[in-house]
Amino acid sequence: MKVLVIGSGGREHSLVWKIAQSPLVSKIFCAPGNPGISELAECVDIAADQTGRLCKFAVKENIDLTVVGPEAPLVDGIVDTFNKYKLKVFGPDKKAAILEDSKVFSKCLLKKHGIPTADFKCIDDYQYARSYILSREAPIVVKADGLSKGKGVFVCKTTDEALHAIDSIMKDKVFGSAGNQVVIEECLIGEEISLLAFTDGRNIVAMESSQDHKTVFDGDKGPNTGGMGAYSPVPIMTSELYLRIERDILVPTVHAMNREGRPYKGVIYIGLMITSSGPMVLEFNVRFGDPEAQVILSRMKSDIVPIMLATISGELDKVDLEWFPEASVCVVIASGGYPGSYDKGKGITGLDLLNDQDGISVFHAGTKSVDGKIVTNGGRVLNVVACGEDIEAAQKKVYEAVSKISFDGAHYRRDIASKAIT
Ligand code: AMP
Ligand code: GLY
Repeated sequence: MKVLVIGSGGREHSLVWKIAQSPLVSKIFCAPGNPGISELAECVDIAADQTGRLCKFAVKENIDLTVVGPEAPLVDGIVDTFNKYKLKVFGPDKKAAILEDSKVFSKCLLKKHGIPTADFKCIDDYQYARSYILSREAPIVVKADGLSKGKGVFVCKTTDEALHAIDSIMKDKVFGSAGNQVVIEECLIGEEISLLAFTDGRNIVAMESSQDHKTVFDGDKGPNTGGMGAYSPVPIMTSELYLRIERDILVPTVHAMNREGRPYKGVIYIGLMITSSGPMVLEFNVRFGDPEAQVILSRMKSDIVPIMLATISGELDKVDLEWFPEASVCVVIASGGYPGSYDKGKGITGLDLLNDQDGISVFHAGTKSVDGKIVTNGGRVLNVVACGEDIEAAQKKVYEAVSKISFDGAHYRRDIASKAIT
């Protein structure tokens, strides 16, 4: 089979790495890819948002399966276009991808179908948003409605912070039209879990649990990022808790999408807060998480390709999904200044020291090759992943590996997975 993976981040590198292990696959292309991916796949110089060119490429190369990594092309309807050309493509169509595209949609869906989530209000008027915040108690959470690269959520400890968030989103339009509406919601307290599942709209096959670390600094401090590290499995995810999430959230959400006339096929990512009154939905994503994919795929024993094909054909009831018992920890190394502005083009050293190290993978994200040297080219630069017999062993191993890599301004969190140990 020939497979095309769309995207260029750490998630896509780990997808390509996993797909490359499938005996069904003879050739992988990645558009646009990155220098790490180019060691496993042929990188094609087409951006992830150039649907027409990607579709032409897939037709010309007789691609048997296209896997879409990021949310933006899914929200733009890449799956609908590929389907028109009878090309097999993994991911939800535009109608279903609204689950991530609009927080207003997803919160209303949750409320309508009685699925547990924080109390909220959707507002499209700047003055009203301000007066609503003034009428509530802090802490309070302010969210831009649309896509904002994981940076559109403000967990505000004070009313002032919340008013600032409203200013940035609705007045300064830092997220563009994604900030035409906001969701203002109750601040939930608890432990976070990311639960990802394959679904063909009828059958649901859940993956192992993972936990992201969204804020930039140790101790969950500082602004939110795309994700600074992850681990899997999450110890608080007992089988009892999983069954409750399956019954109260996962199955009802997939059914709700069917009832709304938006059948969902692909990976559904549910961000959960495990509160004292049970699990509640924080957000949905319509694709693998980044960096959750890096830890989940490192633990996946089964070939992922038949599972993706069964998701597309509606036959997920016919596949098994097996896991390695080892734990996995991923640390993201970011550019100085990220998630704010940062410089690019810093030379990276130490990558060669980690080549072929047992149980260690380095997935590239914001990197570029210049005259045969790897330099930084984005906010999140590299993802170092280690597997070990438990979280503690994997954490020790990952930080040993991370310490070998350096570039000017590099920073990373030193406490990824510590929560799972203490
Ligand atoms: P989201 O993109 O909606 O998952 O939000 C990003 C992060 O903000 C989440 O992973 C949580 O850490 C935090 N967050 C979002 N909504 C809430 C909430 N209602 N209460 C507390 N924290 C939240
Ligand atoms: N790690 C969070 C996300 O992929 O949106």
